[in-house]
Amino acid sequence: MSTNPPIDSFAKFREMVYGFRASRIILTALELDIFSVMGSREWAIPSLAKRLKVSSRGLAILCRNLASLGLLVPALGRYRTTSMVKHYLQKESVDYRGDYLALMERQWKEWSRLTEVVRTGVPVESDESETREYRRSFTWAMHHRSQEPAEQVAKQIAIKSARSFLDLGGGPGTYALAFLQNNPHLQATVMDRPAALAVAKILAKQFSMESRLSFHPGNFMEDPIQGKYDLVWYSNVLHIYSPAENLKVFRKIKRALNPGGRLLIQDTFLENPQGLRPLEANLFAVTMLLYTDTGNTYSLQDVRTWLHKAGLNRTRVINLKKGTGDWEGRILEARPPVSS
Ligand SMILES: C[S@@+](CC[C@H](N)C(=O)[O-])C[C@H]1O[C@@H](n2cnc3c(N)ncnc32)[C@H](O)[C@@H]1O
Repeated sequence: MSTNPPIDSFAKFREMVYGFRASRIILTALELDIFSVMGSREWAIPSLAKRLKVSSRGLAILCRNLASLGLLVPALGRYRTTSMVKHYLQKESVDYRGDYLALMERQWKEWSRLTEVVRTGVPVESDESETREYRRSFTWAMHHRSQEPAEQVAKQIAIKSARSFLDLGGGPGTYALAFLQNNPHLQATVMDRPAALAVAKILAKQFSMESRLSFHPGNFMEDPIQGKYDLVWYSNVLHIYSPAENLKVFRKIKRALNPGGRLLIQDTFLENPQGLRPLEANLFAVTMLLYTDTGNTYSLQDVRTWLHKAGLNRTRVINLKKGTGDWEGRILEARPPVSS
């Protein structure tokens, strides 16, 4: 986003509202499959238009804009893709982020229903209405999103004394796998819904971690958490639920901790006192309004209050190196009192 708040002039207001144009241009390029079709070749507009079955005029203006955004390179009246595009946005690449791109395309449509959702308070989707295929694709998207942050986080958080690790709502298990890679004595478990665990099982095989990663299918709101763990990792789950629901989960986590164990929470946190910053944490609350019944974003102080109520009152914030990890790079650690 080129314009930062506060919006204190009409010019800034206009620029902020029109921020959607660049997003729309990129999403249209994805819908037309331009990046994959271009592959490694240089293309003149007429031949690319013919291949894509689109108008030359439309494509010329679109490609010029994609080049001005840095996604295409102009070369004597032709265009080729950049190395970033080849790596992440072309279907041929092993690092293609297709399910994450599909999620972004769906979000454009669903964000357009925000007014209706604010009116009714009813999300555009709910857990009950989702299909197994949706959950599979969403889980791959979470893996695409978390790969780099997971490696960075696992390198920076020392868990050498831990032997057992629970990735609660771990989805694809990207974080569990990163912690396993960095801690040879660790055994990990991912608890999630069966459709998400199907993806985690594929990844465990890809990472040759089948003997060190186990799977706990279930709904942690309804079902007991089986087993005892030295470390429970709760990443990007806090924001899906209300304060009361998170409190319920924290109580379950406390019961699932071994003596000396701890909980680590990764999420985006609002800053006190009014919670107006960071902007991303506030924008993400809107995503939760669109997709969940009770989700929101919270301040560290909010979360600490629920942790205290759950008996996890020894808390501290772990700050990752600037520009690494997910969100703002802050992880909240919580332990039970020394005597418990
Ligand atoms: C946003 S994803 C985060 C995935 C992963 N922890 C990460 O940080 O990349 C949230 C995950 O929590 C899981 N989840 C949410 N509520 C759950 C519940 N009640 N029981 C089991 N899994 C749940 C979802 O299925 C999803 O895989």
